[in-house]
Amino acid sequence: MKQGASTIAILSSGGDAPGMNAAIRAAVRGGLGRGCRMLGVLRGYQGLIDDEVEELELRSVSDVIHRGGTMLYTARSDEFVTPAGQKKALDTLARHGADALIVVGGDGSFRGALDLARQGMQIVGIPGTIDNDIACSEYTIGYDTAVNTAIEMIDRLRDTAQSHERCSVIEVMGRHCGNIALSAGIATGATAILVPEIDFDYEKDVLERIAFTRSKGKRHFIVVASEGIFKQSGSRFSSSEEMSAAISQDSGIPARTTVLGHVQRGGSPTGRDRITASEMGYLAAELLATGRGNRILAVRAGRVCDLDVEEALSAVRHFDFELYRMSQELSL
Ligand code: F6P
Repeated sequence: MKQGASTIAILSSGGDAPGMNAAIRAAVRGGLGRGCRMLGVLRGYQGLIDDEVEELELRSVSDVIHRGGTMLYTARSDEFVTPAGQKKALDTLARHGADALIVVGGDGSFRGALDLARQGMQIVGIPGTIDNDIACSEYTIGYDTAVNTAIEMIDRLRDTAQSHERCSVIEVMGRHCGNIALSAGIATGATAILVPEIDFDYEKDVLERIAFTRSKGKRHFIVVASEGIFKQSGSRFSSSEEMSAAISQDSGIPARTTVLGHVQRGGSPTGRDRITASEMGYLAAELLATGRGNRILAVRAGRVCDLDVEEALSAVRHFDFELYRMSQELSL
């Protein structure tokens, strides 16, 4: 039988996401409950390089389950991508006696964890990102909170768009992934939803949809766009502001832009995020404490499970085109 870890370090990496704290709490309490020593690494992989490591006790994770952000801070590290950076990180873990590492983050963070796994470290990855863009998992911690935040904001914008008979263009997060736009757009009855996974035709997908719904009596319009569509090469508009100006000019309907930005990343996690994070944090500690490392946690068929790290990272992400098609038929 494989030997379980005796000292488990945990870090958060990449963009923060509501529910990361709940995952850290569950991992720490799950690990301590199995007799492991638990260490918190501050500021992600950069903190490992810089030796920012602290002991975590039962009470270290009190009063965090309901808080957004991450109590361990987060960072994106260029140095960690280099072999020298990774050596420093492994040396830090060894100095503190850590024989396993839990990484809460997105795809890029898991690739870093895989590099460490290939050099002998036992790792478990917990998917935490508001984008819900990790191919191997149906769900990532933070997505539900972010989508609900976007919905709340868009509902507010609808009130004023309705009063002034305007078009509200709302840019949501998602550099490469349209999931937040799709979910929030469906939930708010957006006239147009623009995502990086689908090439869009401004005349057909925006102007014609506005004109058609207007001919059916609609007087205010919501356009939800992922930030990613403005960053693609060859994109007709380089910003949501620019698209708004074009809509005002071409349709005669005054348009206003709101970029939701980082407001989507903060806030108290929803029940779904707290519960999924708790299940994942607990499972991560259990796997490592029982000698089953090198796993990435995922939600599959609605259940939390664990996958081999190499297999998990070779999965290909699929956008839900069916759901997108439905949104097009409903928002009239
Ligand atoms: O990965 C999550 C995310 O919020 C993306 O949706 C967004 O494009 C990016 O992070 C923004 O990152 P930063 O924190 O660097 O502004």
